[in-house]
Order: sequence, then structure tokens, then C-alpha cells
Amino acid sequence: MASSYILNGAETLTFSKGRAPIGLAFKGPSLNGICLPMIGSISVTGGSIRAKTLVPRCSLSSSRPASQPRFIQHKKEAFWFYRFLSIVYDHVINPGHWTEDMRDEALEPADLYDPRLKVVDVGGGTGFTTLGIIKHIHPKNVTILDQSPHQLEKAKQKEELKECTIIEGDAEDLPFPTDSVDRYISAGSIEYWPDPQRGIKEAYRVLKLGGLACIIGPVYPTFWLSRFFADMWMLFPKEEEYIEWFKKAGFKDVKLKRIGPKWYRGVRRHGLIMGCSVTGVKRESGDSPLQLGPIAEDVSKPVNPFTFALRFILGTIAATYYVLVPIYMWIKDQIVPKGQPI
Ligand SMILES: C[S@@+](CC[C@H](N)C(=O)[O-])C[C@H]1O[C@@H](n2cnc3c(N)ncnc32)[C@H](O)[C@@H]1O
Repeated sequence: MASSYILNGAETLTFSKGRAPIGLAFKGPSLNGICLPMIGSISVTGGSIRAKTLVPRCSLSSSRPASQPRFIQHKKEAFWFYRFLSIVYDHVINPGHWTEDMRDEALEPADLYDPRLKVVDVGGGTGFTTLGIIKHIHPKNVTILDQSPHQLEKAKQKEELKECTIIEGDAEDLPFPTDSVDRYISAGSIEYWPDPQRGIKEAYRVLKLGGLACIIGPVYPTFWLSRFFADMWMLFPKEEEYIEWFKKAGFKDVKLKRIGPKWYRGVRRHGLIMGCSVTGVKRESGDSPLQLGPIAEDVSKPVNPFTFALRFILGTIAATYYVLVPIYMWIKDQIVPKGQPI
């Protein structure tokens, strides 16, 4: 299985137009969950498998119905989720899913190697990814945006981020002018956006000509139980979905790099909360060529408190499963002899 090659995010999949060489064509789902043949060539480079060509197999899973519950994939639910999670976020969530090593590897394709670049970190939360960004970029040139004041409060407390601009805002409606930033970074946030395509369209809009967007996010599990909890919790996109969203928004040179905690030994069947880093370049100035209707979620609309509470509790239970998965994988990594698959 392709996933068994995936170690420490060492692969980059480049999706380009043209006929797939024999043996490289793969089946991918369309966004409405129907499996369609995808035409494209895929080259894989990097790390210990540099010379190996891999064949992603339709995210290695059956098609996913478009109507999964995804109890925390709404702005209001995400707001309340982070109201509480922000208290322990840096200590409990990141160590299992999003380590400093992974962060640096995921940010590498974002080409942050000029301190003068103007960078936005969308869904920047407590500033964990921003700490990786400011290793290269002067903090004065970095803006952190998040819809959760509670997460941002944690970022504000970090001495290293004192010179960054920190603002509340919505990833699907960015408060930045068109063609205004050099780099758009967003890590671990897309899974909460009710309309990810809209968020990626916004990424395109705010970037300057030649600017680069880098979205780091989850990947969909293939193991049945993990799939069940993933669908209950939030959006775990498939790799093909990321690529399609980027391309539809107008991005060129779209690439996907697989990442994952070292102790998973490349296992992806449970899905990963931080499973890939997708990049694309803006080659034409102005707004995205993609036209979308009005924003789907009206956050000012009153909600039924009972329904809201029930969704919230079920979503939180599903999220708890994903706190346990990395612990389970870590124990397996300790027990199974090195070099053997887990
Ligand atoms: C898993 S945290 C990631 C935080 C940070 N990027 C990191 O790497 O640790 C997801 C963040 O996305 C934010 N978020 C969710 N939906 C959002 C939206 N529509 N607009 C802006 N931020 C959003 C949440 O408030 C939360 O802080």
C-alpha cells in the first residue's frame, strides 16, 4: 500500500496536466463522492524514497458521501470548541499530531527564505505555526488571523510573537486587500471551514502576483473506525480534493507533500490531523477566476441550543478518539521492532 512508504513527510506529489504514464493513472473521487478516473501525472521525490514513484490510490478508501455529520465543522461550533481547547491546546494537541519537526518540514515548500516577505498565518491560533514562520520571516511582517479570541490570547502571550500583528477574522472572508501578501500560510484550520473552496479562493485573492499559498491539513483515514470518527468530527479532505480546490481557485504549480509524526512510521490508515502540506502559486494578479455564491453559514442566525449542544458533544467525543490515536501509534512504535511495519 502506498502509505507504507510515507515516512516523515518526505514525499512531494506533483500533479500536472497531461496523460498519466501507464501505471500512474489513479482513480480519484470527485467532490460529490463518486469515484472518477483522474488524468494526471504524479512524480514523487524526496527523502529515503527519492527514486521511488508512488501511486496514490484514490486516498486508499471508498468514496465518501458528501453528507457526513462533521459536528464541529461550523464556525460557531469551532468557536466553542476552541473556547475550551485553547486552554490545553499547546500542551495536549500539538505534541501528538503536530510536532516542531513536522511543522518545519511542512513549511519548507512555502519558500519562506526572505525575511522581508509579507506573510499571513490564517487560523494561526496559539501561534505554533507562526513560531516556525518567524524562524525565517521578520515578525513585523507576519499577521496572525483567527476566529477564536481565546486561541489568539495564547498567541499574544508568546514573547517571540510580540511584534506580529494579531487579528480576529474569518478565513472565508479575509480582511486583507487583493494582491497584498507574499505568502499565505494556514495550518490545521481548513478542517473547520464550512466551505474550504471559499477559503482557498480567498488565499488566492490576497496573494500578490507570484505569491505562494501553503495549506497544511488533515488527510482522510481508510481504517473504518477512524473514518467513522473523522466524519463525525470535522472535514478530513482527500489529497485529490486539496489539489482540485487549489486548481479551481486558479493556483498553478500545485504540489502536495505528505507529512506525519515520526512514530507513525508512515502509517496513514487512521488519517492524520496534519497529513499534508499543499502549495500553489498565483500566476495572474487580481481575484480568483472562480465564482462562488454567497457564504453558506450565517453565523448571526440563531441556533437551536439543544441541537447545538448535541452536535458539540458528539463532535468532541469524536475528537477525543483522535487524541488517543497518536498515543496508540506511539505505543506500537515502542513495541514493534524498528524496521518492521506497524
Ligand atoms: C488546529 S488549530 C491550528 C492552530 C495553528 N495554526 C497551529 O498550527 O497550531 C485550528 C485553528 O483554526 C481556527 N479556525 C477555525 N475556523 C476558522 C475560520 N473560519 N477562520 C479563522 N480561523 C478559524 C481555530 O479557531 C483554531 O485556532
